[in-house]
Amino acid sequence: MRIDILTTFPEMFPGVLDTSILGRARQQGLLEIACTDIRPFSASKHKNTDDYPFGGGAGMVMMPQPIMDAMEAVCGPDFNGRRIYLGPRGRTLNTALARELAREERLVLLCGHYEGVDQRALDACVDEEISIGDYILTGGELAAMVLVDCVARFVPGVLGSAESPEEESFSDGLLEYPQYTRPREIRGMAVPEVLLNGDHAKIRAWRRRESLRATLRHRPDLLETAPLTDKDRKLLRELEEEEKPCFSEN
Ligand SMILES: C[S@@+](CC[C@H](N)C(=O)[O-])C[C@H]1O[C@@H](n2cnc3c(N)ncnc32)[C@H](O)[C@@H]1O
Repeated sequence: MRIDILTTFPEMFPGVLDTSILGRARQQGLLEIACTDIRPFSASKHKNTDDYPFGGGAGMVMMPQPIMDAMEAVCGPDFNGRRIYLGPRGRTLNTALARELAREERLVLLCGHYEGVDQRALDACVDEEISIGDYILTGGELAAMVLVDCVARFVPGVLGSAESPEEESFSDGLLEYPQYTRPREIRGMAVPEVLLNGDHAKIRAWRRRESLRATLRHRPDLLETAPLTDKDRKLLRELEEEEKPCFSEN
């Protein structure tokens, strides 16, 4: 998969894109990621990329010309992928969308800054807008990094063979069960016994129950759409009883 990032701040990216799982995936050629600086595409004498908003108001707006030219240069004539603007009005990024984007051969991500991007650039050269949440960032760069990171996890081979993106929170509509590592006991707190006995059926059952408990406790809204079995529903009724003291304390 190839991802192009159009930005006026390319210097923000190297640490994130070169480190850990993303860095390894790029070295292995599973992910090709290129950052393109929009500024050199500006036709203005001083290579400006932003200007005052028509109609007045605070801040600056990114000019359409440098963006349109940069987009054309990066996409070329036979582009077959998705051109995405990271912006707060867009569809909110979630696991389903990340999985969908990971199936594309190419993504182009446009990062806005200041007060945003001239609407004509968005109309002319963007297929969709994606938000990473209901809050405002100073620029689209951090949002692009979040999108790349979470899409990359669904690109085959990016996670090591032992890791699976399907075993994380949200992948089956529920939050993940609690995790433990060594030591077996610390400051009087022990690891649940069931995880130590090597009985994989019991461990699976415990994890499902705790996954349901975590979802009930932290994100009960997810239970409305999560695919639940009759056994899950029975467990949930039990957990609701167990969790009652927790809820009434809050
Ligand atoms: C300060 S914001 C502009 C906000 C815009 N004036 C508004 O009120 O919708 C600057 C840039 O950050 C990016 N951005 C801000 N919040 C974002 C979010 N929640 N998701 C994705 N990108 C975001 C966009 O690229 C945007 O152009």
